[in-house]
Amino acid sequence: MTTDVAILSALRQTPTGGISGAALSAQLGISRAAIWARIQEMRRLGYEIEASPHSGYRLLRVPDVFHGDDLLARLAQPRVIGRQIRVFKETTSTNDVVEKMALDGVAEGVVVIAESQTKGRGRLSRRWESSAGKGLWLSVLLRPSIAPQAATQVTIGAAVSVVRAIRQVTGVEADIKWPNDVQVQGRKLCGILTELTAEVDRVRFLILGLGLNMNQQPQDFPPEVRKLASSLAIESGEPVDRPNLAARLLEELEHDYARIRRGDFEEVATEWERCCSTLGKAVRIQMGDRVIQGRAESLDGEGALILRTTHGNLERILGGDVTVLK
Ligand code: BTN
Repeated sequence: MTTDVAILSALRQTPTGGISGAALSAQLGISRAAIWARIQEMRRLGYEIEASPHSGYRLLRVPDVFHGDDLLARLAQPRVIGRQIRVFKETTSTNDVVEKMALDGVAEGVVVIAESQTKGRGRLSRRWESSAGKGLWLSVLLRPSIAPQAATQVTIGAAVSVVRAIRQVTGVEADIKWPNDVQVQGRKLCGILTELTAEVDRVRFLILGLGLNMNQQPQDFPPEVRKLASSLAIESGEPVDRPNLAARLLEELEHDYARIRRGDFEEVATEWERCCSTLGKAVRIQMGDRVIQGRAESLDGEGALILRTTHGNLERILGGDVTVLK
């Protein structure tokens, strides 16, 4: 644990009362001067920390930026997802950064966040609008011991985590459009891009990339997606505390990834079905050049959609672009 993580966790554990320099120094085993130096540095980053001879140090306000140590200080330990968090002001795509780390042999659980991406990408090679300081653009490296066909489980688990985190922090009643768009009244709030490197029977690593629209206003979206996308600020009518929601999301991802690793995917799937607005609806699915229509019936054990086609057959759909028909 770095000194900043230790200081921020201590400040968060005494939200109203404050903690004295002497107590912090004893707790962390470093000098009061060293603590003062770190507090000054945090203030420079925008943290409002009161230092009073009466009540000691108190954390009054945190800036609207992602800070790896601050996120770590908010998370329960020990953990897999977010055991290491790297934050970039700008990068091409957080999935690219994680891929490099994966190839360098970095352990699973590392999280990469960027305030903005110059080449953010979505599913089906689409561009992902990642404007600076408005959302959460995050990727996680995972190395699950599962077969490549079961990798969808991770994406499904992530969609459930996103819905839970959104509902808890903002109260927005988001739902899921198969396979993994988190939306509200048909407008997309969050997209998930899972990129897989695998052998025939074994996943080598998986990059879970997640883009969550938080504080955009309609004019922040390019005109072509304005009707299709939304943000939590638009839906709730108030700005979102981005670091708070990011930390909540990392806790929820930890929970769902643990369920999947334990072999409890059925539990995750049941929750997913409850959150999914696609099931029971007439849908049109585009898979490359093939278009298929029918009724979305259920999810199977690997996360595939079971579709009752208009001809009455059951089809198992692993991926594609879904349009819900009126
Ligand atoms: C989708 O098409 O719905 C998936 C969008 C995924 C966007 C995220 S943002 C963080 C990560 N880095 C990327 O380049 N893409 C994913």
